[in-house]
Amino acid sequence: MSELAIEARSLVKRYGDLTAVDGIDLQVASGTIYAMLGPNGAGKTTTINMLTTLVRPTSGEARVAGCDVLRQAEQVRRRIGVTFQDIVLDQDLTGRQVLDIHGRLYRQSGELRRKRIADLVDLVQLGEAIDRIVKTYSGGMKRRLELARGLMTDPTVLFLDEPTQGLDPQNRAGIWSYIRDLNRQQGLTLLLTTHYMEEAEALASQVGIVDHGKLVAQGTPADLVAQLGADVIRVRGDGDSRHFVATITAMPFVERVESDSDSSNISVYVDSGSRRLVEILGASSGNGYQVEDVTVARPSLGDVFLHYTGRALRD
Ligand SMILES: Nc1ncnc2c1ncn2[C@@H]1O[C@H](COP(=O)(O)OP(=O)(O)OP(=O)(O)O)[C@@H](O)[C@H]1O
Ligand SMILES: [Mg+2]
Repeated sequence: MSELAIEARSLVKRYGDLTAVDGIDLQVASGTIYAMLGPNGAGKTTTINMLTTLVRPTSGEARVAGCDVLRQAEQVRRRIGVTFQDIVLDQDLTGRQVLDIHGRLYRQSGELRRKRIADLVDLVQLGEAIDRIVKTYSGGMKRRLELARGLMTDPTVLFLDEPTQGLDPQNRAGIWSYIRDLNRQQGLTLLLTTHYMEEAEALASQVGIVDHGKLVAQGTPADLVAQLGADVIRVRGDGDSRHFVATITAMPFVERVESDSDSSNISVYVDSGSRRLVEILGASSGNGYQVEDVTVARPSLGDVFLHYTGRALRD
């Protein structure tokens, strides 16, 4: 049995009338990567802020790295690292100064700080740029510096709030590989938030899908996807889709039909996509619905999200 690095029970955060987090339960095993996936405003940052002791829960409880976030906040802070969604680096300092100041805040000795900085510069490959002023860094370099700062205190649990927000695909892949290395080589537990399903799929052994402050589904990416069916035919079109949807729903090999709020994207779950494509498209002719685009794929976490919430992840 692996112990739990993060455990939350019925976590709630209210701001006046607004319930930002509405009773979240979490169990993250030590040494694993957990991704909270959800759209803007779902409550991901608020959840991280409660787990990292920055925001006090309205109700519920949580333990991180074995310590209670309310009663042992100081101990929690000593065992975790955090990187924030919005980059909060002092632009006029060098990368090295940013890391050094962070170490001082945690009362690390000069010797320890120098050693940590040397190791981390290697890990996130900042090279000589570590002595340049942060202002001159690219977005990807700033993210890497933030990651290094989060690791300065040698945490056992690392929280990453949207670690690749605003990065291009190449920089994103770079950050993914550092995250994987930290997990594999150092056994670090990571909880990250993202609204990129590829990111959750690529990194996490467990994914929690969050919407309106609630965890609507949880499991391994493979399990979540497998629950939906074999293949999905995605149809995008124009016009009145009601007749089309009714016709295909009645087809014997169609397991389920789902569409987003304005019915412009229709997902048809079938036993075998490539064999059924022609019949599905045939059902669209002559009833006021014009198909504009069709793809056949294995279901993705985006489909899981649509299934549980009735909305596309990027709405
Ligand atoms: N300090 C605050 N005061 C009032 N409302 C807040 C506060 N912080 C967050 N909220 C609200 O709580 C809800 C959840 O916000 P949160 O930042 O946790 O979402 P998120 O999932 O991180 O979204 P995003 O993907 O945009 O980062 C939102 O409706 C937000 O406006
Ligand atoms: Mg957020």
